[in-house]
Amino acid sequence: MSDIIYFKHEEEEKSTNQELFNQQLNIYQKVLHGNYMGHCEIYDILHNFLVNYLQKPFKMLDLGCGDACFIAQALANTNIASYTGIDLSEIALEIAQSNMAIIPCEKHFQQGDFSELTDEFLQQKEGSFNVIMASFALHHLLLPKKDVIFREIAKLLSADGIFVLIDVIRKESEERETYIERYLDDVKKRWSMLSPQEYLIVKNHISSSDFPETPQTLYELGIKHNFNRSECLYRDSLETTQLLCFYR
Ligand SMILES: C[S@@+](CC[C@H](N)C(=O)[O-])C[C@H]1O[C@@H](n2cnc3c(N)ncnc32)[C@H](O)[C@@H]1O
Repeated sequence: MSDIIYFKHEEEEKSTNQELFNQQLNIYQKVLHGNYMGHCEIYDILHNFLVNYLQKPFKMLDLGCGDACFIAQALANTNIASYTGIDLSEIALEIAQSNMAIIPCEKHFQQGDFSELTDEFLQQKEGSFNVIMASFALHHLLLPKKDVIFREIAKLLSADGIFVLIDVIRKESEERETYIERYLDDVKKRWSMLSPQEYLIVKNHISSSDFPETPQTLYELGIKHNFNRSECLYRDSLETTQLLCFYR
């Protein structure tokens, strides 16, 4: 693990939620295994993008990297020079280290909250990442915090850097409640490897912690924080998930 001070209140926050993370990680690994959130299709597109678009060695920061299972596959045979993964969950980071072992590059893993990056980190790392990823992690933040993280991402990216946002989204003009009902309806129908108890945990988690934005709101954040252009590289047929690229 890196010794750079990345986060405010690092020590206080460290131990409290690890048990909850472990339980959620076990469920999430079932979700990945069943490809219920479309990781196979999304990361296939991401892999092609990284191979074709990034012809020179690049540095990546992965916010909410989890177990890094899919990003490790997407980074195979790319020009990755350095990878930094940040996550709240220590156990996820341990698995991430082992999943990333196949990728020959410099690696850093740091436990902490990416919405609490320190000024020191922001100054030290200003302009130093070519790609910043956030995959299924930003939707836990409310809009004002998403606004802050977009500003910080823009600061941390190099002049020609890219922010890759993979996340759940609402339809334009869809209320959060309608989205949650629609999403959970799909979970109930398709996520067949979950036990009834696991379904309830997922339902409670999504109902209390998911705050997806519409694509338009995300594009507006990109414009506000001086990204030159943005594009959608993937959208699912249910209109719940997209892969968006924001270019500096
Ligand atoms: C749904 S998982 C996604 C993991 C991986 N990026 C993927 O796409 O498969 C969300 C991850 O983000 C982490 N996470 C959520 N909010 C976070 C925060 N504020 N700071 C750091 N990690 C966070 C969680 O611990 C979890 O591992």
